[in-house]
Amino acid sequence: MKVTKTVEETRAIVKAWKKEGLTIGLVPTMGYLHEGHASLIRKCREQNDKVVVSVFVNPTQFGPNEDLASYPRDFDRDSALCQTLGADLIFHPEPEDMYTDACAYVNIDTLSQNLCGRTRPTHFKGVCTVVCKLFHIISPDRAYFGQKDAQQLAIIRKMVQDLNFDIAIIGCPIVREADGLAKSSRNTYLTAQERQAALCLSRAIRKGQEIIKKGISAKTVLQEMRDIIEAEPLAKIDYVCMTDALTMQDVEQADRDVLVAVAVFIGKTRLIDNFSYEVSL
Ligand code: PAJ
Repeated sequence: MKVTKTVEETRAIVKAWKKEGLTIGLVPTMGYLHEGHASLIRKCREQNDKVVVSVFVNPTQFGPNEDLASYPRDFDRDSALCQTLGADLIFHPEPEDMYTDACAYVNIDTLSQNLCGRTRPTHFKGVCTVVCKLFHIISPDRAYFGQKDAQQLAIIRKMVQDLNFDIAIIGCPIVREADGLAKSSRNTYLTAQERQAALCLSRAIRKGQEIIKKGISAKTVLQEMRDIIEAEPLAKIDYVCMTDALTMQDVEQADRDVLVAVAVFIGKTRLIDNFSYEVSL
């Protein structure tokens, strides 16, 4: 397995692979890898000749008062895991390699404004910009994203469609801890007491999944979910929403494919979780 830092050396490797006619899969990450990331890398390994994992804590997707400085990092551990999973290349640039006097940004309107975009207004602009750059640097045939960040996945799909990237976007299911908490690099911020409190997110998700099938209004589904979260003293709701699965705009009824998503502060840590509901099922 190779590790590159610069755009130039990465491009040279990719170019040689392309010349041989090999297919390339990309798994973009911010590192501190866990089983959720591993599931994406495994799927990528199954479907491509070459597997590239990017490990880059992308500064442009963090707001001024967010956790850029404290975001957990452990490149040696990440690198060992990628090796075990059969990755061929880790692209691990420094912020200076990715952004020098950058003026160009990629923004996907409307989809970026609801849900996480309300509390994190510049977040998806940073995500789209870095993912667009990674797509140009690595030119993958396929790129892998988790349903855990469902709004991010919908936005990337829209970016690929609107900007004509010839890349297949593969969505992968949420990987959870045995007790239901969705795996996240940010779970390491939680104290033992907060870790227990954080279970209110997956409890609310399970409740939502159960009652949405009854064809009741979004208002009723979301209120029952809110009640579960509000019963937890350490939890503070950021949002509990039901949106159209493609446009990310609020809906009043699950009468089409929808996303039901929650963001909750547990102490200072903001956690997200969601489920998709397809009317056709
Ligand atoms: P990061 O949070 O490191 O996540 C990298 C990828 O792993 C994302 O596609 C995310 O949805 C997926 N993932 C994280 N936890 C998961 C879980 N429990 N189950 C399944 N998939 C999971 O998302 C980012 O980084 C960044 O925004 C990035 C796309 C790399 C751009 O900087």
